[in-house]
Amino acid sequence: MLCFNIITIFPEYFREVFDFGIVRRARAAGLVEITAHDLREWTSDRHRTVDDRPFGGGDGMILKPAPLFEAVVALTGANEAREVAGTGTRVVLLTPQGRVFDQRVAEELAAVNQIVMICGRYEGVDERVVEALVTDELSIGDYVLSGGEPAAVVVVDAVVRLLPGALGSETSAVNESFSDGLLDYPHYTRPPEFRGLRVPDILLGGHHAEIARWRRRAALKKTQRNRPDLLERAALSDDERKWLEKGE
Ligand code: ADE
Repeated sequence: MLCFNIITIFPEYFREVFDFGIVRRARAAGLVEITAHDLREWTSDRHRTVDDRPFGGGDGMILKPAPLFEAVVALTGANEAREVAGTGTRVVLLTPQGRVFDQRVAEELAAVNQIVMICGRYEGVDERVVEALVTDELSIGDYVLSGGEPAAVVVVDAVVRLLPGALGSETSAVNESFSDGLLDYPHYTRPPEFRGLRVPDILLGGHHAEIARWRRRAALKKTQRNRPDLLERAALSDDERKWLEKGE
């Protein structure tokens, strides 16, 4: 069982997002438990203050270290901050300053038991939280969201569907985009002709080797068109590289 504990100032944000599709099924099957916690539970002043102005000046507000330290210690089951690392819990901060989350990171996280996620807000989080507690600073892409909450949803979804048993027997994560470093090949369903647009003939026949070859080439073409950066790192044969260069 994988356990996600999400620390946020907007716990309501998560009220229904995990109640659909694969994530809902995985929760019902006991593969994963996902809980959103209000950071204000770990404040001790009357106003339940979670943020303050930045030292050195500048715009915006910074999440204070004390409530986050209390929250992470409590949710990891440690007695104090020094013990957090020893619990083996991954402490993820969602931030545009993180390393970019991708399928490899999703696979890595799908192999652990406990993940605490901190959703950044305002201009950021006091860096001592990062220094003392955070194991992974993750960004979901090179753009700035108004908070880490949507990013936490993205990470949870991508990780949960990799848990053994989450996808059911009819689907698998093996043939998807990124599993071999390429984008997925194009898919078609009935009818074979729609508004004059035809499904490629090869897919209508039953020749499995031909279909596999068509799909591989279509995946290469799509990757070249939309994500040429992926091709540099993908495992391609010499023939495939030549074929792409010819641009057929
Ligand atoms: N918070 C704000 N922007 C973000 C991003 N791109 N990824 C993760 N967390 C964020």
